[in-house]
Amino acid sequence: MRHILAIESSCDETACAVVRDGKEILSNIVSSQINVHTLYGGVVPEVASRIHVENISAVIKEAIDRSGVTMEDIDAIAFTQGPGLIGSLHVGVMAAKTLAWQFDKPLVPVNHMCGHIYANRFVSELTFPLMALVVSGGHTQLVFMEDEWDFKVIGETTDDAIGEAYDKVSRVLGLGYPGGPAIDKIARQGSLRYKLPLPKTHGRFDFSFSGLKTAVLQLIQREERKGEEINVADLAHCFQETALSLLTSRTLDAVGEYKPKMLVLAGGVAANSRLRELLPELMKKYPETKLVLPPMFCCTDNAAMIAAAGEVALRHGVRGSFDCAADPGLLMPGEE
Ligand code: KG4
Ligand code: ZN
Repeated sequence: MRHILAIESSCDETACAVVRDGKEILSNIVSSQINVHTLYGGVVPEVASRIHVENISAVIKEAIDRSGVTMEDIDAIAFTQGPGLIGSLHVGVMAAKTLAWQFDKPLVPVNHMCGHIYANRFVSELTFPLMALVVSGGHTQLVFMEDEWDFKVIGETTDDAIGEAYDKVSRVLGLGYPGGPAIDKIARQGSLRYKLPLPKTHGRFDFSFSGLKTAVLQLIQREERKGEEINVADLAHCFQETALSLLTSRTLDAVGEYKPKMLVLAGGVAANSRLRELLPELMKKYPETKLVLPPMFCCTDNAAMIAAAGEVALRHGVRGSFDCAADPGLLMPGEE
C-alpha cells in the first residue's frame, strides 16, 4: 500500500488530501475562498495568498486527522508546483517542503493540469492510449497520452481559456463570479434567439474563445443602442451552445484521428451540465472509445487529484528537492 499526502493551493482553494494507491480517498479537505472573491468579481491574487497562509495548517491537520493514518504511514508528499498564481502556489510549496523536511519524506512536484486528468482515476481505471479534454479557468487543451505519464498537447486555445470566457461573459451579463455555474444554470431557460459566430482557428485541434466573448459584448452594445433589452437567459444559452460546439467538434475530430481507448474530461468546466449531456451523445459515433466524466467533487480544484497524479509521478521517479520553487507557467511534463 502506498499513501500520498497532497497539497493544492494554485488558485483560490486551500486543499489537502490523503489517498491510498492513487485511487482510494482517505480524506479530501477543501477550504474554498469563493465567498471572499465573489465580493470583488474575481480572484484577487494577494487576498488569495493571504487566506492560504491563514488556512493551510488547519487544512493539513484536518486531512491527516480524518484519513485514519498517521504521518508514519505516508510514503510521499505531493504538491502542486504550477501552473497557477505565484503567491498562492508558494504557500502550498512551502507547506509541502516543511512536512517533507520534518517527517523525512520524498517530495513529488505535480503539474495541476495532470492532477485534473488523473482525477478520473476516482471513477475508472485509465486505459491508454487516452485523450484528455482539459477545460479550466486557465487552460483549454487536448492532451494525448500514449501511455501513463506521457503527455502530448495536440491542441490548445490560442487566446482565452473556455472557463475564462464563461467568467468574462458572465460579468458582462451581470451574472457575477464564478461565471461557469451561473451561465450553466440560466442557459437552461434560454433559447437560440441570437446568432453568434463560430470562432475560427488555424490548427485542426486548436480552440479560440476571445472572439466569441467580444461578439457577445458587441451584441449587447448593438441591442442597447437600438433601445432593445437583452434576454440574459437567451444570450447565455447562445454563448454556451457556440462555445461547446467548438469544444466538442474539435474533440471529436481528435478522437477520430488518434483513436484513443478512452476520452476523459478534466478541469473546472468538466462540471458543466450541458457539456456532460452533449459528450455522451456525440461520442456514440466512436463506440470503441470509452468516455469518462469525472465526478463533480473532483472537477474543481482539490488535492485528491494531485495525490492521484502524484502516485503515478512517484512510480515514474519524479522527485522534488528543497530547492524547487513554484512555477506559475509550468508546462506539462515533456512539453517544450
Ligand atoms: O479547474 P478550476 O477549478 O480552476 C482552474 O484550474 O482554472 O476551473 C475553474 C473554472 C472557472 O472558470 C469556472 O467558471 C469554470 O471552471 N466552471 C464552469 C462550471 N463550473 C466551474 N464552467 C462552466 N460550467 C460550469 N458548471
Ligand atoms: Zn484547476
